[in-house]
Amino acid sequence: RTKITLAHLRTMKRYRTPISMLTAYDYPTGLACDASRVEIVLVGDSLAQVCLGYDSTTRITLDEMIHHCKAVARGCKTPFLVVDMPFGTYHGTPEETFHNAVRLVREGGAEAVKLEGGPEIAHHVEHLTLAGIPVFAHLGLMPQRAVQLGGYLPQARRFHSAKRLVEHALVMEQAGAVAVVLEAVPPEVAEAATSRLKHAFTIGIGAGRGTDGQVLVWDDMLGNSRGRKPRFVRQFAHLRKHVDDGIAAYVNAVRRRTYPAYQTSNMYSMDSDQSRQL
Ligand code: KIV
Ligand code: NA
Repeated sequence: RTKITLAHLRTMKRYRTPISMLTAYDYPTGLACDASRVEIVLVGDSLAQVCLGYDSTTRITLDEMIHHCKAVARGCKTPFLVVDMPFGTYHGTPEETFHNAVRLVREGGAEAVKLEGGPEIAHHVEHLTLAGIPVFAHLGLMPQRAVQLGGYLPQARRFHSAKRLVEHALVMEQAGAVAVVLEAVPPEVAEAATSRLKHAFTIGIGAGRGTDGQVLVWDDMLGNSRGRKPRFVRQFAHLRKHVDDGIAAYVNAVRRRTYPAYQTSNMYSMDSDQSRQL
Protein backbone atom coordinates (compact mmCIF):
# COMPACT_ATOMS: atom_id res chain seq x y z
CA ARG A 1 0.00 0.00 0.00
CA THR A 2 1.17 3.50 -0.74
CA LYS A 3 1.29 6.20 1.93
CA ILE A 4 -2.03 8.06 2.28
CA THR A 5 -1.58 11.78 1.74
CA LEU A 6 -3.88 14.80 1.93
CA ALA A 7 -3.92 14.85 -1.88
CA HIS A 8 -5.17 11.26 -1.82
CA LEU A 9 -7.92 12.17 0.69
CA ARG A 10 -9.02 15.20 -1.35
CA THR A 11 -9.27 12.99 -4.42
CA MET A 12 -11.46 10.61 -2.45
CA LYS A 13 -13.79 13.51 -1.58
CA ARG A 14 -13.90 14.58 -5.23
CA TYR A 15 -14.81 11.09 -6.39
CA ARG A 16 -17.19 10.56 -3.46
CA THR A 17 -15.29 7.55 -2.18
CA PRO A 18 -16.07 7.28 1.55
CA ILE A 19 -13.04 7.78 3.81
CA SER A 20 -12.53 5.45 6.80
CA MET A 21 -10.98 6.90 9.93
CA LEU A 22 -10.38 5.01 13.18
CA THR A 23 -8.78 5.88 16.50
CA ALA A 24 -5.65 4.11 17.74
CA TYR A 25 -3.92 4.54 21.07
CA ASP A 26 -0.78 2.40 21.14
CA TYR A 27 1.68 0.36 19.05
CA PRO A 28 -0.46 -2.77 18.48
CA THR A 29 -3.56 -0.78 17.50
CA GLY A 30 -1.35 1.34 15.25
CA LEU A 31 0.03 -1.82 13.62
CA ALA A 32 -3.50 -3.20 13.11
CA CYS A 33 -4.59 0.02 11.41
CA ASP A 34 -1.46 -0.06 9.27
CA ALA A 35 -2.32 -3.58 8.10
CA SER A 36 -5.88 -2.50 7.25
CA ARG A 37 -7.36 -0.29 4.56
CA VAL A 38 -8.21 2.53 7.00
CA GLU A 39 -7.14 5.82 5.43
CA ILE A 40 -6.86 8.03 8.53
CA VAL A 41 -5.76 7.10 12.04
CA LEU A 42 -6.60 9.44 14.90
CA VAL A 43 -4.84 9.40 18.22
CA GLY A 44 -7.96 10.78 19.88
CA ASP A 45 -8.00 12.30 23.33
CA SER A 46 -10.75 9.73 23.95
CA LEU A 47 -7.73 7.72 25.06
CA ALA A 48 -8.21 9.56 28.36
CA GLN A 49 -11.29 7.46 29.12
CA VAL A 50 -10.71 4.47 26.84
CA CYS A 51 -7.12 3.63 27.82
CA LEU A 52 -6.21 5.61 30.90
CA GLY A 53 -9.41 5.40 32.94
CA TYR A 54 -9.89 9.13 33.37
CA ASP A 55 -13.48 10.37 33.72
CA SER A 56 -13.07 13.09 31.07
CA THR A 57 -10.86 14.06 28.15
CA THR A 58 -10.09 17.28 30.02
CA ARG A 59 -7.76 15.27 32.31
CA ILE A 60 -5.23 14.27 29.68
CA THR A 61 -1.97 16.20 29.28
CA LEU A 62 0.07 17.11 26.22
CA ASP A 63 2.88 14.81 27.42
CA GLU A 64 0.47 11.88 27.69
CA MET A 65 -0.87 12.55 24.17
CA ILE A 66 2.69 12.67 22.82
CA HIS A 67 3.61 9.44 24.61
CA HIS A 68 0.71 7.56 22.97
CA CYS A 69 1.08 9.27 19.60
CA LYS A 70 4.70 8.10 19.43
CA ALA A 71 3.63 4.51 20.05
CA VAL A 72 0.93 4.65 17.36
CA ALA A 73 3.32 6.31 14.91
CA ARG A 74 5.89 3.52 15.37
CA GLY A 75 3.31 0.98 14.16
CA CYS A 76 1.24 3.03 11.76
CA LYS A 77 3.12 4.05 8.61
CA THR A 78 0.64 4.00 5.75
CA PRO A 79 -2.53 5.78 6.99
CA PHE A 80 -2.60 9.56 7.46
CA LEU A 81 -1.88 10.18 11.16
CA VAL A 82 -3.82 12.82 13.09
CA VAL A 83 -3.61 13.62 16.80
CA ASP A 84 -5.97 15.55 19.07
CA MET A 85 -4.63 18.67 20.75
CA PRO A 86 -5.73 18.11 24.34
CA PHE A 87 -7.87 20.45 26.43
CA GLY A 88 -6.20 23.75 27.24
CA THR A 89 -3.31 23.47 24.77
CA TYR A 90 -4.74 25.70 22.02
CA HIS A 91 -6.39 28.56 23.88
CA GLY A 92 -3.43 30.74 24.80
CA THR A 93 -1.61 32.74 22.15
CA PRO A 94 -1.35 31.31 18.61
CA GLU A 95 2.42 31.03 19.28
CA GLU A 96 1.76 28.81 22.31
CA THR A 97 -0.63 26.71 20.25
CA PHE A 98 2.01 26.38 17.56
CA HIS A 99 4.64 25.36 20.12
CA ASN A 100 2.31 22.62 21.44
CA ALA A 101 1.37 21.43 17.94
CA VAL A 102 5.05 21.26 16.96
CA ARG A 103 5.66 18.89 19.89
CA LEU A 104 2.85 16.60 18.66
CA VAL A 105 4.36 16.60 15.17
CA ARG A 106 8.08 16.51 16.02
CA GLU A 107 8.02 14.24 19.09
CA GLY A 108 4.71 12.44 18.50
CA GLY A 109 5.13 11.84 14.78
CA ALA A 110 1.68 13.18 13.84
CA GLU A 111 1.02 14.62 10.39
CA ALA A 112 -1.91 16.82 11.41
CA VAL A 113 -3.59 18.05 14.59
CA LYS A 114 -7.28 18.21 15.49
CA LEU A 115 -8.84 21.07 17.46
CA GLU A 116 -12.36 21.34 18.87
CA GLY A 117 -14.14 24.64 18.22
CA GLY A 118 -15.34 27.25 15.76
CA PRO A 119 -14.61 30.92 14.97
CA GLU A 120 -13.16 31.54 18.45
CA ILE A 121 -10.15 29.35 17.56
CA ALA A 122 -9.97 30.27 13.85
CA HIS A 123 -6.85 32.41 14.37
CA HIS A 124 -5.10 29.37 15.88
CA VAL A 125 -6.09 27.24 12.89
CA GLU A 126 -4.79 29.93 10.55
CA HIS A 127 -1.50 30.26 12.40
CA LEU A 128 -0.87 26.49 12.38
CA THR A 129 -1.82 26.24 8.71
CA LEU A 130 0.46 29.10 7.67
CA ALA A 131 3.28 27.46 9.63
CA GLY A 132 2.74 24.21 7.74
CA ILE A 133 0.79 22.06 10.18
CA PRO A 134 -2.45 20.71 8.65
CA VAL A 135 -5.48 21.12 10.92
CA PHE A 136 -8.62 19.04 11.38
CA ALA A 137 -11.48 21.01 12.97
CA HIS A 138 -14.02 19.31 15.23
CA LEU A 139 -17.57 20.72 15.53
CA GLY A 140 -20.91 19.62 16.96
CA LEU A 141 -20.54 17.62 20.14
CA MET A 142 -17.17 18.69 21.49
CA PRO A 143 -16.28 16.32 24.36
CA GLN A 144 -13.73 18.77 25.80
CA ARG A 145 -16.70 21.09 26.40
CA ALA A 146 -19.12 18.49 27.76
CA VAL A 147 -19.53 20.37 31.04
CA GLN A 148 -20.38 23.60 29.25
CA LEU A 149 -22.73 21.77 26.85
CA GLY A 150 -24.56 20.17 29.78
CA GLY A 151 -23.37 16.65 28.95
CA TYR A 152 -22.57 14.50 25.92
CA LEU A 153 -25.59 15.74 24.00
CA PRO A 154 -26.38 15.87 20.27
CA GLN A 155 -25.93 19.32 18.75
CA ALA A 156 -27.39 21.54 16.00
CA ARG A 157 -30.89 20.08 16.20
CA ARG A 158 -32.67 23.43 15.93
CA PHE A 159 -32.64 25.57 12.80
CA HIS A 160 -30.53 28.39 14.23
CA SER A 161 -27.89 26.17 15.82
CA ALA A 162 -27.82 24.06 12.63
CA LYS A 163 -27.26 27.16 10.50
CA ARG A 164 -24.55 28.32 12.90
CA LEU A 165 -22.78 24.97 12.70
CA VAL A 166 -22.67 25.08 8.89
CA GLU A 167 -21.31 28.64 9.06
CA HIS A 168 -18.67 27.56 11.57
CA ALA A 169 -17.58 24.75 9.26
CA LEU A 170 -17.10 27.31 6.48
CA VAL A 171 -15.13 29.60 8.81
CA MET A 172 -12.82 26.71 9.71
CA GLU A 173 -12.28 25.94 6.03
CA GLN A 174 -11.47 29.59 5.36
CA ALA A 175 -9.00 29.50 8.25
CA GLY A 176 -7.27 26.64 6.46
CA ALA A 177 -8.69 23.49 8.05
CA VAL A 178 -8.18 20.52 5.71
CA ALA A 179 -11.02 18.56 7.30
CA VAL A 180 -13.96 19.02 9.63
CA VAL A 181 -15.08 16.31 12.04
CA LEU A 182 -18.80 16.54 12.79
CA GLU A 183 -19.93 14.77 15.94
CA ALA A 184 -23.53 13.99 16.97
CA VAL A 185 -25.41 16.29 14.60
CA PRO A 186 -28.46 15.49 12.43
CA PRO A 187 -27.63 14.08 8.97
CA GLU A 188 -29.20 17.11 7.24
CA VAL A 189 -26.74 19.42 8.98
CA ALA A 190 -23.76 17.22 8.13
CA GLU A 191 -24.92 17.01 4.50
CA ALA A 192 -25.30 20.78 4.24
CA ALA A 193 -21.81 21.31 5.64
CA THR A 194 -20.35 18.63 3.37
CA SER A 195 -21.84 20.12 0.20
CA ARG A 196 -20.94 23.72 1.14
CA LEU A 197 -17.28 22.91 1.85
CA LYS A 198 -15.29 23.06 -1.37
CA HIS A 199 -11.85 21.97 -0.16
CA ALA A 200 -12.17 20.52 3.32
CA PHE A 201 -13.59 17.02 3.61
CA THR A 202 -16.00 16.10 6.39
CA ILE A 203 -15.69 13.12 8.71
CA GLY A 204 -18.81 12.18 10.64
CA ILE A 205 -19.40 10.41 13.92
CA GLY A 206 -23.08 10.15 14.72
CA ALA A 207 -23.72 12.49 11.79
CA GLY A 208 -25.41 10.17 9.27
CA ARG A 209 -24.25 8.89 5.90
CA GLY A 210 -23.78 12.17 4.07
CA THR A 211 -20.26 13.05 5.19
CA ASP A 212 -17.12 12.39 3.14
CA GLY A 213 -16.00 9.85 5.71
CA GLN A 214 -16.73 8.19 9.05
CA VAL A 215 -14.80 7.85 12.28
CA LEU A 216 -15.32 5.59 15.29
CA VAL A 217 -13.50 4.93 18.54
CA TRP A 218 -11.46 1.70 18.40
CA ASP A 219 -12.87 0.10 21.55
CA ASP A 220 -16.49 1.01 20.74
CA MET A 221 -16.26 -0.28 17.18
CA LEU A 222 -14.61 -3.56 18.17
CA GLY A 223 -16.88 -4.19 21.16
CA ASN A 224 -14.07 -3.80 23.67
CA SER A 225 -15.66 -1.22 25.96
CA ARG A 226 -17.89 -1.61 28.99
CA GLY A 227 -20.92 0.47 29.82
CA ARG A 228 -23.31 2.51 27.74
CA LYS A 229 -22.35 3.41 24.20
CA PRO A 230 -23.75 6.26 22.10
CA ARG A 231 -26.55 5.25 19.72
CA PHE A 232 -24.39 5.83 16.63
CA VAL A 233 -21.88 3.13 17.60
CA ARG A 234 -21.97 -0.14 15.74
CA GLN A 235 -19.98 -3.07 17.15
CA PHE A 236 -18.23 -4.70 14.22
CA ALA A 237 -16.64 -7.26 16.54
CA HIS A 238 -17.05 -8.41 20.15
CA LEU A 239 -13.55 -8.29 21.59
CA ARG A 240 -14.70 -7.96 25.19
CA LYS A 241 -16.34 -11.39 25.07
CA HIS A 242 -13.22 -12.98 23.56
CA VAL A 243 -11.08 -11.35 26.25
CA ASP A 244 -13.34 -12.46 29.12
CA ASP A 245 -13.64 -16.01 27.73
CA GLY A 246 -9.89 -16.24 27.14
CA ILE A 247 -9.00 -15.14 30.69
CA ALA A 248 -11.56 -17.53 32.21
CA ALA A 249 -10.14 -20.45 30.18
CA TYR A 250 -6.58 -19.56 31.26
CA VAL A 251 -7.44 -19.39 34.96
CA ASN A 252 -9.31 -22.70 34.66
CA ALA A 253 -6.36 -24.40 33.00
CA VAL A 254 -3.94 -23.15 35.68
CA ARG A 255 -6.26 -24.35 38.50
CA ARG A 256 -6.62 -27.79 36.91
CA ARG A 257 -2.93 -28.01 36.00
CA THR A 258 -3.86 -28.66 32.39
CA TYR A 259 -1.59 -25.75 31.46
CA PRO A 260 1.32 -26.13 30.88
CA ALA A 261 0.76 -29.47 29.21
CA TYR A 262 2.97 -32.39 30.33
CA GLN A 263 6.08 -33.00 28.17
CA THR A 264 5.01 -30.98 25.19
CA SER A 265 6.08 -27.85 23.42
CA ASN A 266 4.98 -25.88 26.50
CA MET A 267 8.18 -26.99 28.28
CA TYR A 268 11.94 -27.19 27.80
CA SER A 269 13.62 -30.56 28.17
CA MET A 270 17.03 -31.09 29.79
CA ASP A 271 19.92 -31.98 27.47
CA SER A 272 20.77 -35.20 29.35
CA ASP A 273 18.67 -37.18 31.77
CA GLN A 274 20.43 -36.21 35.01
CA SER A 275 17.37 -34.70 36.62
CA ARG A 276 17.52 -37.22 39.52
CA GLN A 277 20.85 -35.72 40.62
CA LEU A 278 19.30 -32.27 41.02
O1 KIV B 1 -11.09 11.58 20.66
C1 KIV B 1 -11.68 10.98 19.75
O2 KIV B 1 -11.71 9.75 19.68
C2 KIV B 1 -12.36 11.80 18.72
C3 KIV B 1 -13.14 11.10 17.65
C4 KIV B 1 -14.28 10.32 18.22
C5 KIV B 1 -13.59 12.04 16.60
O3 KIV B 1 -12.24 12.97 18.76
NA1 NA C 1 -11.23 13.85 20.61
